[in-house]
Amino acid sequence: MTYHNRSNCGQLSLSDVGREVSLAGWVDALRDHGEVLFIHLRDRSGIIQVVFSPESTSREICDRAGLLKNEFCVFLTGRVVKRAKGTENPNIITGDIEVLARDLAILKKSSTLPFPISEKSMVAGTAIKRDESIAEDLRLQYRYLDLRRPTMQDHLIKRHRILKVVRDFLDEQGFIEIETPMLTKSTPEGARDYLVPSRHHPKQFYALPQSPQLFKQLLMVSGMERYFQIVRCFRDEDLRPNRQPEFTQLDLEASFIDEEFIYELFEELSARMFEIGGINLPCPFQRMSWQEAMNSTGSDRPDLRFGMTFRDAADIFIDTKYGIFKQILKRGGCIKGINVKGQSDRLSKNILQNEYAKEIVPGFGAKGMTWMRVLDGGLESNIVQFFSENERNEILKRFDAENGDVILMIADQSWALVCSALGQLRLHIAERLNMIPKDVFFPVWVTDFPLFEETEDGITSNHHPFTMPDRTDFDPGNTGELLTLRSRAYDLVVNGEELGGGSIRINDRDLQNKMFQALGLSETDVEEKFGFFIRALEYGPPPHGGIALGIDRVVAMILGTSSIREVIAFPKNRSAFCPLTQAPSPVVLKQLAELGLLDMGGTQALPGSKEQQDLIDSLSWVSRININATERPAVIVAVQDAAALAEIVNRHSGEDEPLFSVVTIANRTRTGTEARTSLLAEKGELFKNAPAIKGGYFKVASILE
Ligand code: AMO
Repeated sequence: MTYHNRSNCGQLSLSDVGREVSLAGWVDALRDHGEVLFIHLRDRSGIIQVVFSPESTSREICDRAGLLKNEFCVFLTGRVVKRAKGTENPNIITGDIEVLARDLAILKKSSTLPFPISEKSMVAGTAIKRDESIAEDLRLQYRYLDLRRPTMQDHLIKRHRILKVVRDFLDEQGFIEIETPMLTKSTPEGARDYLVPSRHHPKQFYALPQSPQLFKQLLMVSGMERYFQIVRCFRDEDLRPNRQPEFTQLDLEASFIDEEFIYELFEELSARMFEIGGINLPCPFQRMSWQEAMNSTGSDRPDLRFGMTFRDAADIFIDTKYGIFKQILKRGGCIKGINVKGQSDRLSKNILQNEYAKEIVPGFGAKGMTWMRVLDGGLESNIVQFFSENERNEILKRFDAENGDVILMIADQSWALVCSALGQLRLHIAERLNMIPKDVFFPVWVTDFPLFEETEDGITSNHHPFTMPDRTDFDPGNTGELLTLRSRAYDLVVNGEELGGGSIRINDRDLQNKMFQALGLSETDVEEKFGFFIRALEYGPPPHGGIALGIDRVVAMILGTSSIREVIAFPKNRSAFCPLTQAPSPVVLKQLAELGLLDMGGTQALPGSKEQQDLIDSLSWVSRININATERPAVIVAVQDAAALAEIVNRHSGEDEPLFSVVTIANRTRTGTEARTSLLAEKGELFKNAPAIKGGYFKVASILE
C-alpha cells in the first residue's frame, strides 16, 4: 500500500462505485455486528463507512480490524459499493455508498480519549449523543483532539477561505500586504501592553503591538499608498467572549482617500466575506452619527435588527403635574421611552413593577422606570392617574401605541444615563422576549464620534490620538471646547457588535502636537513616546486614512459561534491562560538574570526570584501574607490538603457527574460559642441586596461572561 493516489473519504460518491480506493484517516466510530465490523473513517474531507466482512475481507484483515478503537490512525484499501436499499445513512454526505475493505494498516494507536470526538451517527435516524458539558478548559488542554472534530475543522477551513477572499480582493484593488514589527514600542489603543524584555539591552523592554497603527501611517509617509496586513495584535485588557489577549486584525491604510473610499471598499469586501457563510449583507450599509446612535439606541454599537428605538418624551411633560418628571425637567433632564410592541401579555404588571422597575432597571444605573400598558385604547399603570388627558393622548401618539403594547420610560437629569439605562433595558427586553430575529444581519457605519472622552483624571482619545478632528482651530487647553470636538472616525457595527474601526488621520505635525498637548502629554513625553513618528510628519506626509477589522469577530459572526475562541486554533481561555501549553508559566532565575531582571533597583523582591524556589515562600509572596516559621508547618499541611483535593477534582472532571462537595459539610463554630442561625437568615434578609432572583436562585454578577 502507498499513500500515492489516496482518495479523500468525504469526496467519494456514487460515481466511484466499483473503484478500488485507498484511504487514510482516523476511526471516527465503530459498530461491531459479530462477524461484520463497520467503521466510520474520517479525514479532513469527511466520513465514509468501511465494512470488514468475511465475504469481502480476508480473515487476517478482519482480525486486525478487530483491534481498532476510536481515533486509531489507519490506512486501508477497498472497493466502493452502493449500500443496500434501506441501509443508507443521510447523516453523512457519502451515506449512499460504503467501502468493502481489502487491506488495513494500523498506522498509530490512540490512547483512551479525554472526551468523544465523533459527531456523526452511524445509523440513519439516530442522533449522536454529544456531551455539551465538556469543560472548555479540557477542550483547550487537548485542543489537537478538539480540532479533529468536523465542526472545528469546518471553522478553520472557513476562516481560511474568508482570509483568502480578503487577500484576493485587496490585491485586485492595488493593496499590498506588508509585515510590520512584533517587537516594537507601545502604540496607544487603550489597553495595557505586553512587554518583552531584551537580553541585549538589559532592563529595557519591547512592547508587542496593540495594533500596527504607527507603522501603517509611516508606510503612507513612505509612499506605499495602499497597505494591508492580516496581523496579530496584543492587548492586555479585561477578557470578554469577544476579546482575546492576542487576536487578528485585517489592518489597512490608504493615501489620497476620504471616508467614502473606506465605506465603499469595506462594504464590498464585507459582502464577499459574509458570502462564504451564505450570508447576503444588505448594501450599502446604513450610516448613523454617534449622536443619533446614542439618542435612538443608547449605544455606540447599535443593534438595529429589531426596531424598538427610543422616542423623546420630555416635551410632552413640559407642564406636567407628575412630581418626578417635573423635578427632572426643571433641572434640564431628559425623558425617553420605548414601545415594546404587542407584548403586554408577556409583561405583566408584576414583572414590570417588581422585576423591571424595582430590580433590573436600577441595576442599569437608573433610579427607576415608568411603565404603561396599552389597553382598550388607553393607558394602564400605577402612575397614569397623575398624567393629564392631553399627556396620555400625546404618549399614545408619540409611541404609535396600540392595544397590547407596553411603553417603558426612563427619566433622569443626565442624558447619558437615560441613554445608557434605556439602551440596556431595550436589549434585555428584546433578548428575554425573543424579539431579535435570527439569521438577520444589519450592518451600520457609526460616524462622528466625540474626539475625546472625559475620564477621572482628565480627557482621553475616544479612538487613538492620530484621528483627524472635525475642526483644527481648537484650544488644546480648553477642556470644555475639546469635549465638543467630533472625530473623522468610523466604526463598522453589525448586530450590535463592533467589527471594525478606523479614521482619517492627522497628517500635520503641528496639529498632531496639539493633540498630544490636549491629552496632557509634556514635550518630553511626546519626544520619548512618539518622537520618531512626529519627525516623519515633517517629510511631506500624504493625506491618509484606514481601518482595522477584528477578523476573529467577523469569522465568529459569519459562522454563528458563541465565542471567538471557537474560530481560533489555539486560543487562551477566559483567564488569558493556555491550558494546552500552560502559558504563562514561571521562568528560571538564570533567564531573569540574563535579562537583567533580578535587580531592578527596587527594594521588593520580584516574583520568580529567590522566593519562587520554595512553594510556601512563593505563595506568601503572591498573596502578600507573611508566613512565619511557627505558621509554616500548618500552611504546608493545608497546601498539601488543597493539592490532594485538586487532584481528586481533576481526576473526576469530565468523567462522572459534577462533584459538588468532596468533604463532609458541617457547621463550624468557635470553641466556647453555641451554634445559632443568623437573625438575618431567619428573616430572609441575608440576600436582600442580591439584585434579582431567577428560577429559585439568587443572581450574582457574572465575573467574566
Ligand atoms: P480598534 O482598537 O478599534 O482599532 O481595533 C479594531 C478591531 O479589532 C477588534 N478587536 C479585538 N478582537 C478580539 N480581541 C480583542 N482584544 C480586540 N480588540 C479589538 C475589534 C475592533 O473593532 N488601529 C486601530 C484601527 C485604525 O484606526 O485603523 C485599531 O486597532 O473588532
